[in-house]
Amino acid sequence: MAGLAVNVDHVATLREARKIDIPDPVAAAVLAELGGADGVVVHLREDRRHIQERDVRIIRQIVKTKLILEMAATPEMITFALDVRPDMVTLVPERREELTTEGGLDLVIHRDTISDAVRTLQKEGIPVSIFIDPDIDQIKLAHRIDADYIEIHTGTFCDAKTPTRRNEEFERIRDAAKLASKLRLGVNAGHGLGYQTIKAFRGLSEIDEFSIGHSIIARAVLVGLERAVREMVSLIKEL
Ligand code: PXP
Repeated sequence: MAGLAVNVDHVATLREARKIDIPDPVAAAVLAELGGADGVVVHLREDRRHIQERDVRIIRQIVKTKLILEMAATPEMITFALDVRPDMVTLVPERREELTTEGGLDLVIHRDTISDAVRTLQKEGIPVSIFIDPDIDQIKLAHRIDADYIEIHTGTFCDAKTPTRRNEEFERIRDAAKLASKLRLGVNAGHGLGYQTIKAFRGLSEIDEFSIGHSIIARAVLVGLERAVREMVSLIKEL
């Protein structure tokens, strides 16, 4: 059975919209674990637009399952990861102007940088996953540079507008997962997955863990809103 790692970045996005201290992604990490998550994911971006270093350090201390740190393979981030020691690092591409991670890392172009980062982190006992598109050549390269895991980018599948395109994209994911598993890479998957798109993965036993953030936080806002309003109404009635 596949696991679920919950990405709490967007709790921090909401906090940073006001630059105050609520809602706290640390509290979200605790609640995600209470809800049965197998891990907590945070992406510390170069521009610090949501998660801050303080969040990662506190979540590192309190997490009972595991902490997965998403990051770019920069010297600054590698130094930070070696200091904080997450249970796993997922290397992702990062562009300042993007709304969110827009695609997998291209190992054809960035092979040397990524390979060096993988080796440095592994040498210090931190397993490394590489976020890549469901592309056979990328999987083979991930294997060649000795990554522990790959995370298959599911965004194109989730964004597909027609059933035909969606089926094509899912087949790419399935082939990629099967090849990676055959090469003895751990296989995670994520980006854009929601309460409908997750259903397609039934029976795809090669996937070890899904990494899901936005759809869960978005749903939490809505399923929690009624109670939150009720509580404020009740406080106002007592005035
Ligand atoms: N996996 C990776 C590598 C990501 O960069 C992200 C977004 O931060 C996710 C998974 C989660 O994506 P979403 O928030 O769309 O569920």
